[in-house]
Amino acid sequence: MISPIEFRRAMGAFATGVTIITVDLDGEVHGMTANAFASVSLDPLLLLVCVDHTARTHAHLHAKKRFGINILAEHQRVISEYYAQPLGAHEQAEEDAGARFDRTAHGTPILRGALTYLECRLKSTQDAGDHTIFIAEVEDVVVREGEPLLFFRGKYCQIGEEVTA
Ligand SMILES: Cc1cc2nc3c(=O)[nH]c(=O)nc-3n(C[C@H](O)[C@H](O)[C@H](O)COP(=O)(O)O)c2cc1C
Repeated sequence: MISPIEFRRAMGAFATGVTIITVDLDGEVHGMTANAFASVSLDPLLLLVCVDHTARTHAHLHAKKRFGINILAEHQRVISEYYAQPLGAHEQAEEDAGARFDRTAHGTPILRGALTYLECRLKSTQDAGDHTIFIAEVEDVVVREGEPLLFFRGKYCQIGEEVTA
C-alpha cells in the first residue's frame, strides 16, 4: 500500500511552475497557490486545475465560475507562500507579500508582475477523490518576459541552464 507521503514524494520529482488562482469576491481578491494545473485542449482552448474539497477556493470557483490563473515569476516566492496559507482574509496581501492586482474587463484580479495571466470561464467539473478537477475555457491571455518560479521536491527553485547535450 502506498502512503500519501510516498505518493507526494513521488510526485514531487515532477518539477512544476507555480500559479495563483484569483477570484473576485464582491470586490475583494481571493487567491490560492496551485501547481496541479495543466493545459488540456487547443480547440477549444481549455485548461484544468485541481482543487482540494476543503479549500475555500473550491466553493468560490463553483460559485463564481470565473477565475484567473497567474503564473508566478521567480521573484514571487513570498506571494506563493502567502496564498498557500489556509487561514486569513488576504487583506494584508500587499503589505505582507507585495501582491498587487489590477482588474480585467471581466473584473477578475490579475496579479502584477506575474509571467502569464489566463482569464478562465468554468466549463465543467469532475470530482476526483478529495479534489475536484475544474476545466475552464481560456478567454484571454497576457504573456510577459521573465523567468519562472519553480517547485521541485517541496522546495522553490529557479530555472537553470538550457540543456543542449
Ligand atoms: C507550491 C504549492 C502548490 C499547491 N498546489 C495546490 C493545488 O494544485 N491544489 C490545491 O488544492 N492546493 C494546492 N496547494 C495548497 C493550497 O494553496 C492551500 O491549501 C491553500 O491554503 C488553500 O487556500 P484557500 O483555502 O484560501 O482556498 C498548494 C500549495 C503550495 C505551497
